[in-house]
Amino acid sequence: MIEFIKRLPKAELHLHIEGSFEPELMFKLAQKNKIEIPYKTVEELKKAYNFSNLQSFLDIYYAGAKVLRTEEDFYLLTQAYILKCVENNIIHTEIFFDPQSHTSRGIEFKTVLSGIKKGLDEAKEKYGISSNIIMCFLRHLSQEDAFETLKQSLPYKDFIIGVGLDSSELGNPPSKFEEVFKEAKKEGFKLVAHAGEEADVSYLFEALDLLDIQRIDHGVQAINSKELMQRLKEEQIPLTLCPNSNIELKVFKNYKEHNLKKLLDYGLNVCINSDDPAYFKGYLNQNFINVFENLDLSKEDIIKLVKNSFNSSFISDKLKEKYIKEVDKIAKS
Ligand code: HPA
Ligand code: ZN
Repeated sequence: MIEFIKRLPKAELHLHIEGSFEPELMFKLAQKNKIEIPYKTVEELKKAYNFSNLQSFLDIYYAGAKVLRTEEDFYLLTQAYILKCVENNIIHTEIFFDPQSHTSRGIEFKTVLSGIKKGLDEAKEKYGISSNIIMCFLRHLSQEDAFETLKQSLPYKDFIIGVGLDSSELGNPPSKFEEVFKEAKKEGFKLVAHAGEEADVSYLFEALDLLDIQRIDHGVQAINSKELMQRLKEEQIPLTLCPNSNIELKVFKNYKEHNLKKLLDYGLNVCINSDDPAYFKGYLNQNFINVFENLDLSKEDIIKLVKNSFNSSFISDKLKEKYIKEVDKIAKS
């Protein structure tokens, strides 16, 4: 089955490009940009990747992102992730980036976007990998700050498919960003948001009712409301689950306790993603393998999860159909 998982063509819908920043590249770019890293070696840095909750991860993740300065840096970051896509048989990816992590340090919006786009254009050309870019607002910052970011993005609207919401969830509910999401919708952006990762179901209701999102990132806390579970099932609202992330950030004690199989069996539209793979011990295949080995997933479950990813993506129906056929071809072989 592990070989089967590896062979299946897959899509990824929840991946923070800054979270794919491997320590080796981080050290290389830090040296080039003359930026001090408070760790002497790659091994020492990796030892610090020992998290107790979301915030303890975010502190290290934002510190790491400070090493990225030039368009070339963002290109190299994206290029490295694309090589992982090739390794993991990911044929379509929708990646997040956090503009405010960079613009707050004086790096221009355009610099960040151009570097990422160059990497993704090359991915299409060299490997046939399709992609979309989603920019996330940092929820620990103000709505005003998010409005400023939205304004900065408008000249590049054609290259950004949607808007998301990430960073410290507790204490920063979706309602804080109601107006800016309304404006983003008017501008034609697709809408997604991290919700119900650590915070309770009220954040999920707010994300759906006030932000009008099309996809929920994480959403594992939905299990605590029968009403919400029913609604997610009826409306087939996608949940982009990230098992490794949930274990590393102590949302669940271990893989056996993860509720992915329960959500899937209930009939929710869930899929598997890697979130911040450089920090959470593995890329997409490893996420599949970890849940497969611990949650008694069948071959049909794996195929369903993979098809859910393609069907929940922001690509055309025609391209969805083409990709689903490719999945079926491997599934039947
Ligand atoms: N949650 C919230 N913010 C994030 C995450 C996450 O899992 N990864 C990167 N930013
Ligand atoms: Zn995330």
